[in-house]
Amino acid sequence: MTTNTAEQQTTRSEIVRKHKEFLFPAVANYYQEPVALVRGEGAYVWDDQDRRYLDCFGGVLTVSVGHANPRVNEAIIEQVKTLQHTSTLYANRPQADLAEKLYQITPGRLRKSFFTNSGTEADDTAIMAAKLHTNRHEIVVLRHSYSGRSATALTAVGHSTWRPLPAQVAGIVHARAPYCYRCPLKLTYPECGLACAEDIKEVIETTTTGEIAAFMAEPILGVGGFIVPPPGYFERAVEITRQHGGLFIADEVQTAWGRTGDKWFGIEHWDVEPDIITSAKGMANGVPIGMTIATPEVADSYKGLTFSTFGGNPVSMAAALAVIKVIEEDDLRRNAATIGAYLRARLDELKDKHAVIGDVRGLGLMQALELVKDRETKEPHPQAVLTVFEETKRRGVLIGKGGLYANVIRTGMMLNSTKEQVDELIQALDAGLVTAR
Ligand SMILES: Cc1ncc(COP(=O)(O)O)c(C=O)c1O
Repeated sequence: MTTNTAEQQTTRSEIVRKHKEFLFPAVANYYQEPVALVRGEGAYVWDDQDRRYLDCFGGVLTVSVGHANPRVNEAIIEQVKTLQHTSTLYANRPQADLAEKLYQITPGRLRKSFFTNSGTEADDTAIMAAKLHTNRHEIVVLRHSYSGRSATALTAVGHSTWRPLPAQVAGIVHARAPYCYRCPLKLTYPECGLACAEDIKEVIETTTTGEIAAFMAEPILGVGGFIVPPPGYFERAVEITRQHGGLFIADEVQTAWGRTGDKWFGIEHWDVEPDIITSAKGMANGVPIGMTIATPEVADSYKGLTFSTFGGNPVSMAAALAVIKVIEEDDLRRNAATIGAYLRARLDELKDKHAVIGDVRGLGLMQALELVKDRETKEPHPQAVLTVFEETKRRGVLIGKGGLYANVIRTGMMLNSTKEQVDELIQALDAGLVTAR
């Protein structure tokens, strides 16, 4: 056995030491001294040194209704005691009930679901369904997007930083991102005439056969740093997509389940109807899950056999049903809008105070700060993000990171967050930003 004595000396946590020794180094942790979490309750988590943190990232927008939520836990425990596993070869009640519920709460004509274990698989399933339905093979995605770790999903990712290998799948092309703060066309909304959406047309006409299977996009580009497309973007993007025979896949892995405020799904902030929605993460509050919901025609085109051992797992399904119930009973879509607006106002105040903040953006409880060395040149300032990370951690607050240049602070507080918790986050960010110049 090899041991790294230098690491042992600098690492207080036995868990972190073993992580460094026995996991792929690519499984990188946040912070100079990584945090090993051992317990969570509501908006708070505790590390193995018994330090308490306000969790403002929820394991990447995944713990959405609080750690160890009693109503979700009760549903999980009850289901584990009743029936743990079936595989997709047998029907089970939680899966059937969840599929029916998704039909009721998703927009437009979406009706039939396929369940998997992750966002990656949800996106893979959507892409496969779109190809089978249209009999076409090319997919348009966005630069700065993220879709997962499979060969297909990795090829679709719009970040060199998340791609260890070159494109593995043919026929996936990347259009310009609707990234107003760093407009790739150096234009300004609305005078730009949504030139970024028009880029989809140019990409289809110049880099594909001219007929595509689908355009897949996140309503807000999450890993990209919560890039919010401008009003009218999806209306035009989807119009172009349909003109070229494609379906519209909304990747709602981060933006669903009330996260963006008032709506169940992020795409509902635009006036378009997806042919397929994918989701995962916050859907089951931390229990592994993936879902792909499609219109009946698209679902019916998925010919032949398909199978997922853990897809539709009764425990994951019961957890998701419980999460949706909590969101409904506690009116958390509204809370995400109200507390999200309060958080946004407080982040805007921080922008007035700290020149290092170049942009504040997001919807609902999905809010980010993009840090720059200079507001004029907009040179990214990833080092400032690291400084804020260390200071907020010291003050007992966990936040997230993102953006192609790793210069965006991402927050994804619990949907049942309070103003007091927002104030706690703001205080820590303020202190961190003072030290980050
Ligand atoms: C928008 C989006 N799609 C897909 C994925 C992949 O999900 P998973 O990590 O569950 O495979 C992610 C993960 O962060 C994501 O943010």
